[in-house]
Amino acid sequence: MTPRKHREPGDAEPAKKSSITAADPCTIVIFGASGDLSRRKLVPALYGLAAQNCLARRFAIIGFARTPMSDEAFQASAVDSVKKFADASTLRDEECKEFANALAYVAGEYHRPEAFEKLKSRLEELDRAHKLEGNRLFYLATPPEVYPVIIDQLDKAGLAKSPNGKSWVRIIIEKPYGRDLDSAKKLNQTVLNVFSEKQVYRIDHYLGKDTVQNLMVLRFGNGIFEPLWNRNFVDHVQITAAETLGVEQRAAFYETAGATRDMIQSHVLQLTSLVAMEPPAAFDATAVRNEKIKVLQSIRPFTEESIRTDVVRGQYGPGGGRGDSSLLNGYRKEPGVAKDSSTETYVAARLQIDNWRWAGVPFYLRTGKRLPSRVSEIAIHFRSAPHMVFRGQGLAGNTLVLNVQPDEGISISFHAKLPGQEMKLKPVAMDFSYQKEFGAGERSAYATLINDCMRGDATLFDRADGVESAWALVNPILDWFESHKPKFPNYAAGTWGPEEADKLLERDGRHWRKP
Ligand code: NDP
Ligand code: BG6
Repeated sequence: MTPRKHREPGDAEPAKKSSITAADPCTIVIFGASGDLSRRKLVPALYGLAAQNCLARRFAIIGFARTPMSDEAFQASAVDSVKKFADASTLRDEECKEFANALAYVAGEYHRPEAFEKLKSRLEELDRAHKLEGNRLFYLATPPEVYPVIIDQLDKAGLAKSPNGKSWVRIIIEKPYGRDLDSAKKLNQTVLNVFSEKQVYRIDHYLGKDTVQNLMVLRFGNGIFEPLWNRNFVDHVQITAAETLGVEQRAAFYETAGATRDMIQSHVLQLTSLVAMEPPAAFDATAVRNEKIKVLQSIRPFTEESIRTDVVRGQYGPGGGRGDSSLLNGYRKEPGVAKDSSTETYVAARLQIDNWRWAGVPFYLRTGKRLPSRVSEIAIHFRSAPHMVFRGQGLAGNTLVLNVQPDEGISISFHAKLPGQEMKLKPVAMDFSYQKEFGAGERSAYATLINDCMRGDATLFDRADGVESAWALVNPILDWFESHKPKFPNYAAGTWGPEEADKLLERDGRHWRKP
C-alpha cells in the first residue's frame, strides 16, 4: 500500500486549492465499513479530502466490518463509491488509484477480542510502513447498539490510548447518540470511562454544512443583523427540514426511531441553538458549545398539556406529488415497515425559549419525509412596520431566509414600489447564492467534519452535556407518543404534512412558508 504522493516544495500548485487545511498523518478506522453511510458518504468524503490535499501526505484507512472481504475487494468497492458519490470535479483516475492503495480491510466480529488484536497488528504495521506517527481516528458507523461493544474492545486492546504517549487518538460517534435521555447518559458513561471528553467527537453532519456555519458568520461577522436578532424585532422563527425521500431501505432503523429521534433531537435542535444562541466569547469549541447548551436549557420543557397543543405528528399515506400520475406508497407499505406502524415520519412543534432575548417569540420547527420538496431552511420573520403610512396595502413583515440546502444562500424580502404612477408596493427579494457568488455546489459536510476532527477542532461537534440536553427536551414527547396511539396515516405523500400542523400556526395567526 503506497502512501499518496504529496506536493513537495517546487512542485506545481495542486489542481484545486481547498479552503480546508491538511491534517496530521493518521490512520482512520471505519467500523461498519461495509454499510450505507461508509459507502455513500465517508469514503467519498475521504477521497475528496485526499484529492484536495486536505489529508496529510501520509495516511491510511482501515475498513472494519463482519463481512469477509480482502483488501483488494474493499479497495474496489471504495473506488466504485468514489466514482458514484464523490464531487465529480475532483475525480481523477490517478488520484483514485492512489487513494485506493491507502485502503485496507479487517473482517471480524465485534465481540471477539481476537478481531481487535488483528486490527491492532494492522494498525502497527501501517504505522511503521507509512510513518503515521501513531495518530488514530476511529469512526463508529455501525448500528448504535454496537457502539458500547466497540468501545469496550478498543479499551481492552489498548487502542483507546496513544501508542507512544505523543500521538492523538480520537473517536467519532455517529448519531443517533442513544435513543432517549437514559440511554444517552449511559452511552456517555461508557464512552467517558474509556476516552476523555477531548478525544470524543459526537457528529451531527448538519453542523458541517457551509450554510449552517454561515449562520454564525451572518450573525456575528456583521454588525447589521445582531441588533435586530431579538424579541423586539422578530415576530417568530420557522425551521424546516423537509425531504422528498421516503424511508427508502432504512426501515429497520427508522421503525425504532421516527422523525423526532432521527431529525428533531439532532439536526433541527442544532439549527435552533445556532439561531438562538448568544454571541460566543470566541469561535472555539468551549465558547460555542457553552452558548448552544444555554439555549437548549432555556427552552420551556414540554408537559402533557403543551404536547397536546404544541406538537403534531404525522405519517405519510399513499400519494402522488411528483407531478406525474404514479402513486407513491404509504409508509406502512414500505419494505420492512409494520402494517400498523405508529412511527411518525413527520413532526412539527412550537417551542418557547424562556430568556431575555426570545421571551414570547415562538420557534416553529417541522421535519418530514415525502414532503413536496427537499429543503432545509431557517426563516426569521420580522415584525411588521409599527405604523403603516401606505394605506390599504396591508404589508406583512420582512423575512430573512437562510437556505441550508439545496440552493444554499440567504435571501431577505422587503417591499418595493412598483413602477408607475400609483403607490403600489410589492414584496421583492435580495438574494445571496453560494453557487452564483462562489461557484460552489453542495459540499460534503462529512469532509469538513472529518478534517476538523483530524485537526483536533471540536467546535462543530456535540459535547456530552449537549446531547443530554437535547434528549431531555424531546424525552417527554417520545414518552407521550409511546403512550398515545396516533391516527395514522394522516398526510398524503407529496403534501406538506398533516392539517393539524397548519392549524398549529393558524391558531397564532400565522402560516407555514411553502418553500
Ligand atoms: P447500516 O445498516 O448500513 O450498517 C452499517 C454496517 O454495520 C453494515 O454494513 C453491517 O456490516 C454492520 N452491522 C449491521 N448490523 C449489525 C449488527 N447487528 N452488529 C454488528 N454490525 C452490524 O448502517 P448505515 O451505514 O446506514 O449507518 C451507520 C450508522 O450511521 C448508524 O448508526 C446510522 O444511524 C448512522 N447514520 C447513517 C446515515 C446514513 O445516511 N446512512 C446518516 C446519519 C447517521 P457487516 O454486516 O459487514 O458487519
Ligand atoms: C440523517 C437522517 O441524519 O439525515 C436521515 O438519519 C435523513 O433520515 C438525513 O434523511 C438528512 O440529511 P441531509 O443532509 O440529506 O439533509
